Amino acid sequence: MARDQREPGGEPVDTRSLLRFITCGSVDDGKSTLIGRLLYDTGALPDDQLDTLEKDSRAVGTQGVGLDFALLVDGLQAEREQGITIDVAYRFFRAGGRRFIVADTPGHEQYTRNMITGASTADLAVILIDARKGVLTQTRRHSRLVSLVGIRRVVLAVNKIDLVGYDQATFDRIVGEYRAFAASLGFEDIAAIPVSGLKGDNVIGRSADTPWYGGPSLLELLEAAPVLASAGAERPFRFPVQWVNRPNADFRGFSGTVAGGTVAVGDTIRVLPGERETVVARIVTHDGDLPRAEAGDAVTLVLDREIDISRGDMLVGPAAPAMTADRLHADLAWMDQAPLDPTKSYLIKLGTGIAGARIVTPVQVVDVETGAGTPAPNLTLNGIGSAEIALDRPMAFDPYLENRDTGGFILIDRLTNATAAAGMIRGAVRKSSDVQWQELDVSTSARAALKGQRAAVVWFTGLSGAGKSTIANLLERRLHHGGFHTYTLDGDNLRHGLNGDLGFSPPDRVENVRRAAEAAKLMAEAGLIVLVSLISPYRTDRSLARGLLPPGDFLEVHVDTPLEIAEQRDVKGLYRRARAGEIKDFTGVSSPYEPPEQPEIRVDTAAMSPDAAAEAIYRMLLERGVLAPAYAAFDYTI
Ligand code: ADX
Repeated sequence: MARDQREPGGEPVDTRSLLRFITCGSVDDGKSTLIGRLLYDTGALPDDQLDTLEKDSRAVGTQGVGLDFALLVDGLQAEREQGITIDVAYRFFRAGGRRFIVADTPGHEQYTRNMITGASTADLAVILIDARKGVLTQTRRHSRLVSLVGIRRVVLAVNKIDLVGYDQATFDRIVGEYRAFAASLGFEDIAAIPVSGLKGDNVIGRSADTPWYGGPSLLELLEAAPVLASAGAERPFRFPVQWVNRPNADFRGFSGTVAGGTVAVGDTIRVLPGERETVVARIVTHDGDLPRAEAGDAVTLVLDREIDISRGDMLVGPAAPAMTADRLHADLAWMDQAPLDPTKSYLIKLGTGIAGARIVTPVQVVDVETGAGTPAPNLTLNGIGSAEIALDRPMAFDPYLENRDTGGFILIDRLTNATAAAGMIRGAVRKSSDVQWQELDVSTSARAALKGQRAAVVWFTGLSGAGKSTIANLLERRLHHGGFHTYTLDGDNLRHGLNGDLGFSPPDRVENVRRAAEAAKLMAEAGLIVLVSLISPYRTDRSLARGLLPPGDFLEVHVDTPLEIAEQRDVKGLYRRARAGEIKDFTGVSSPYEPPEQPEIRVDTAAMSPDAAAEAIYRMLLERGVLAPAYAAFDYTI
């Protein structure tokens, strides 16, 4: 592949030194003017745009200063208002033997998605600050997003410096404040330049009005900035297989683009996922064979023996292979109108591979301004957070900060085909299959025996207001007086602590019941008789809970109160509010309840008092041997 080539003008250009950068700031900060100035002064504007610009500038009357560069980029705004969605505008220019691509994205909060798109391929970010306003919420948001997508070099363009009288103290104060804020964002380099997009100070050349500033102009700095090295030739070899090229029975090659490092004929490579290794026999391109290829090259690799490799596999150097896992920890930027749904299976597109993926909640939602994380059941449009992602098969990848190509992914909604989220892998989550089970000598029955009882879970299910907690409470009193060791897990109470992050949407209820079931299991293993009082409206979840315990130790109690009666009693006044539309997803009103088909006992609260119900359950426990003393049966030899 050509490294150096002659441009039509005869000037040598290093095609590898293409610098991509993103500009962050709003039109108010003078972003459009600054970009316009860069494009105009580097001669990047086509003649027709130049004509329009000159004409429009006269029309809006920017006499004295010259052209109104903001008009260039405001054109985009107009198109957007007409309903044409332009997420990111890419503009090209060339200066000092280098080519530049600048991604311009709208600055408003709701355009997080656009910023992520524009920034994910950028080497550097130019963050604009209006010298009169200083560091704003928006500056902090943009900086955090820029950091999230792995940009490590930031240029702080303190704009409109002319409007603060080229005051050095103002500049120093803003830069100091910004550096203090950005200290935790992991930037390797923050350069600050006082500029005026309108007047041109320190944009192309250095300004005589800022004698106190000794650094480079914006363009000088851009010309000298290094490109992001993450996918460079010096990294470990990565080759996501795009397709298997088999034109006839005699040729079989694997085509794709080198996503990191180099490969040469004769190199041993490993095929991920898996352990298989082979040797590169040929590196084929349209223009003939190459002895060697590096990051960015599109090639077809022919291997020295037949192994089964398919699209989505990754070829790597065995000395530094990529990771392989079916569970990832990743940062997510949510891009879809439809919020994250933990019950849904998405498609993950990672490298050249596609798999099914489920997002494990809660998500740690990040406050983009402060960086604080809070657990939440989902993510909504433009939200940023981190979560575990469970894949339906193992895939090969790198942490995003090591390689954007093999560490970045998108999630796709299977039904709508929309891009639901952009993701950046932090690493693999240790699979539970890697975590061995620690055998403990003191068993459940040994613990229960010491208490003179058998351990069990008594699970109360029924509508809100059915009387579950009342009956469970009476039963616990009865058991306690009888000398049994008990504990009650009550839905309302759990929602103040362990399940405090969950609401009443179907996926939240699933998680609510799952956690309560796991907690009940632990308590039963501690030797207790555990009473669980939860609406637990879904049959599947209750049967999962039952499956956590040994047969016979899970006793399901259906507190059967007809909806009309529960609603008529309306002890907490919730039915009334649900009917009035004040509470959504209310069980029995706007959310389903699936009664048990074969509970151990059904108590009909329309026909019996809570005391009678508790008594009936107590008898059932006696009959089923739950309340039989356990020490007789237990062999004490631990
Ligand atoms: S469950 O469905 O996830 O098992 P859980 O038993 O934890 O529910 O919580 C139910 C309690 O939360 C009810 O007794 C009621 O006091 C309260 N609650 C508040 N909003 C709702 C709702 N939308 N649906 C049902 N219960 C609700």
